[in-house]
Amino acid sequence: RSGMPSAEELPRTLADAGVAAAQCRLCGLCEKATQTVWGEGAGDAALMIVGEQPGDVEDLAGRPFVGPAGQLLRAELTKAAIDPARLWLTNAVKHFKFEPRGKRRLHQNPNRTEIEACRWWLQRELALVRPKLVLALGASAAFALTGKVGALSGRRGVIEIGFHGGPIMISWHPSYILRLPDPQHRAEILAQMARDLSRAAEQSF
Ligand code: URA
Repeated sequence: RSGMPSAEELPRTLADAGVAAAQCRLCGLCEKATQTVWGEGAGDAALMIVGEQPGDVEDLAGRPFVGPAGQLLRAELTKAAIDPARLWLTNAVKHFKFEPRGKRRLHQNPNRTEIEACRWWLQRELALVRPKLVLALGASAAFALTGKVGALSGRRGVIEIGFHGGPIMISWHPSYILRLPDPQHRAEILAQMARDLSRAAEQSF
């Protein structure tokens, strides 16, 4: 697709939106990525979790949160007795952004323009799922959902109001946790994310 869809074209179901997103041309990321990674889970989920973008593994698998960061998130969900099938799991940006480095594809953060372009799809997901609460993991998701760019340290665990008019809880991104070099610090930050997951579930289910 070359521009914004007209009102008559608005996808009315998550499945239709996913099909339309697979053809998205709103930014340039579709050119290098393997495929659009659409959200998955319960279409009427009370809690929606939004990450940054698919990683290398997700880009190939076509599913969100199935690579190393996703495994960390899913392990924490299991510990908190939250069934991922009850959630809507998605990303702020639906294509993998990377820089080829030999045989590897190195993750790159999506820029503001890409996040803003992809917000069209995130808004569709919010309008169709109508979650009670959205948990934003990391700065890209927080920006996509609130439009605010501030550092996460003072914002995590706190509720902000998203563009859609509903509550957004902000937490750490699992990839950020995986990259923390100091094991003790990593454990502390992971415990904070685990607490946020539990509180988000308590407040929505
Ligand atoms: N990181 C994300 O933010 N989302 C995914 O789907 C995978 C890794």
